[in-house]
Amino acid sequence: MTEPASPPLRLLIDTDPGVDDAIALMMALRHPRARVEALTVVAGNVGMEHTVRNARYVLELCDAGDVPVYAGAGGALLVEHRRAVDAHGDDGLGNLGLRPRSPDATPGHAVDALIARITAAPGQLTLVTLGPLTNIALALRREPAIGGMLRRVVMMGGAANAPGNVTPAAEFNVWADPEAARIVLRAGLPLTMVGIEIARANLLPAEKIAAIGALGTERARVAARLLTYSLRVAVRRGMPGASCPDGTAMAVALDPATVTDAGQYHVDVETHGELTTGETVVDRRGVHGRLATTTVVHAIHRPRFVAMIEDAVRA
Ligand code: RIB
Ligand code: CA
Repeated sequence: MTEPASPPLRLLIDTDPGVDDAIALMMALRHPRARVEALTVVAGNVGMEHTVRNARYVLELCDAGDVPVYAGAGGALLVEHRRAVDAHGDDGLGNLGLRPRSPDATPGHAVDALIARITAAPGQLTLVTLGPLTNIALALRREPAIGGMLRRVVMMGGAANAPGNVTPAAEFNVWADPEAARIVLRAGLPLTMVGIEIARANLLPAEKIAAIGALGTERARVAARLLTYSLRVAVRRGMPGASCPDGTAMAVALDPATVTDAGQYHVDVETHGELTTGETVVDRRGVHGRLATTTVVHAIHRPRFVAMIEDAVRA
């Protein structure tokens, strides 16, 4: 008797594309079990004038031009917009001239779309966050009930008892909007946190990037060009391979078995530290006695992660 087909993995993805966002989106769009129901876009790596267009580009590249792209917050809740053009280029996709045929957003605001789609499918949707958490925080403030309606939330963000990547203490997505991150981490979501340390432990060396590019499709060529851009940034920073933080988080979202070590802790965010604003404070010993609602990933199965990138770009 054939096994009944497992139900599709229904995804909402909030993103600030973003070189590594583009790789993560390809992984989701080409995964056999995943169904990307909408993208919500936030300002982060670059401004909204680029992030919406970049999301559209990746959808077209993956023959998924019908997926709606909702524009969201053009900046953080309180702090000034902080970009990451050094790591993503001025246009957010490595200044490679990657442009969609149809660059415009779907009518409607991202926050309204998140609320409408989550409330229409209680317990069905997995939310993957790949950028600053501004849209998610606004949606939770508008409609707190959505927190109890999500099947799972996987967040690329933070640094779990590890150095940050934009300051010694903070990772970019949390640092770019620390107040939003605090709202999300305190909302009691079924949250899995994939911090920057996971990307650091799973860098993609030049030979792996070349192998990806040799898989022969347009997606493979674009992925290799994007990862090569990231590799150049990494080498300038003394790292031996390209970092793909959003790809590691997407691998965890697409296949929970990718996680080889994790723990459940109370996690909060420093919003007013002279040196530590944006730090994710992971209470590993339960010192504060608060509910340990966040699953923090400590390690992933690297071959599975890399295979998902390869599968996303092969014919
Ligand atoms: O710190 C890495 C994160 O910040 C990734 O999501 C990258 O795209 C940037 O948004
Ligand atoms: Ca991102």
